[in-house]
Amino acid sequence: MRLKQRLSGLGHRARHPAALLRTLSDPLDPLTLLANRFGTDKGSLAYSGHGYSEAYHEILAPLREQPVRLLEIGLLHRSDQGWLQDPVRYAGSASAARAPSLAMWSAYFPKGEIFGFDLNDFSGVRVERCTILRGDMGDRADLAHLVQETGGGFDVVVEDASHASHHQQIALAALFPAVKPGGVYFIEDLHFQRPELEAPDALKTAQLLRRAEQGLGFASAHIEAAEADCLAAHVERIELYDSLERGTSRAQRRDALAALFKRG
Ligand SMILES: C[S@@+](CC[C@H](N)C(=O)[O-])C[C@H]1O[C@@H](n2cnc3c(N)ncnc32)[C@H](O)[C@@H]1O
Repeated sequence: MRLKQRLSGLGHRARHPAALLRTLSDPLDPLTLLANRFGTDKGSLAYSGHGYSEAYHEILAPLREQPVRLLEIGLLHRSDQGWLQDPVRYAGSASAARAPSLAMWSAYFPKGEIFGFDLNDFSGVRVERCTILRGDMGDRADLAHLVQETGGGFDVVVEDASHASHHQQIALAALFPAVKPGGVYFIEDLHFQRPELEAPDALKTAQLLRRAEQGLGFASAHIEAAEADCLAAHVERIELYDSLERGTSRAQRRDALAALFKRG
């Protein structure tokens, strides 16, 4: 199962061209319709409407009818109890009644096997063909346990959890080896990091990826040397997409979603 190779060469930058050209009369793509139906901010309606679903659809549409193995990290729904209290949520003490983005992926990939991972309690949530595990994306032991429990071999990984730079980099280093050759690893919201969650020595992940695009490798305080070498050897190319978040300037929402394609 190979993703369509639309563009080649590490360094290509796609800036959400479809979204920028779309006019109000154009129909929404099927993934954006599902995102809006289930209420995830990957679509164009819920919350700030990042519009990442257009980019996801553009990349993932060829896999729709395949038995895709997809992992998403970070599953929240803000209407659930505890979600709007940051200290509760970031301590892993909230419990969820829904997982809108998993419901979206399950509907989009009717033969897919979907895995979710979150710090908080999703034990009461049931989504067709989805298994949800609990853990901390900043903890290498939890990530190793996740790979062991699921068996890895993911066609697609979507990382949309704490957005803290060091967490993004630890998860990328730990989980990229679990992506199948030819698969893709996404990181959302590179443009927004909560200052209180940032590690003082962490390079912003957007900056790390821009350096990697220039062939400067993946060295970071939160990626071990062997992991950085492994990423440099196996990442074929990186695409960056802007968010369409309402109420922000174009400069603020630039390069918000990264897609890292693994060599086939
Ligand atoms: C932005 S929300 C996810 C939104 C969801 N993917 C969607 O599209 O509707 C962030 C989620 O990350 C989870 N989270 C925060 N810190 C985490 C951590 N250290 N490890 C794992 N999950 C974490 C939160 O519990 C929350 O569910």
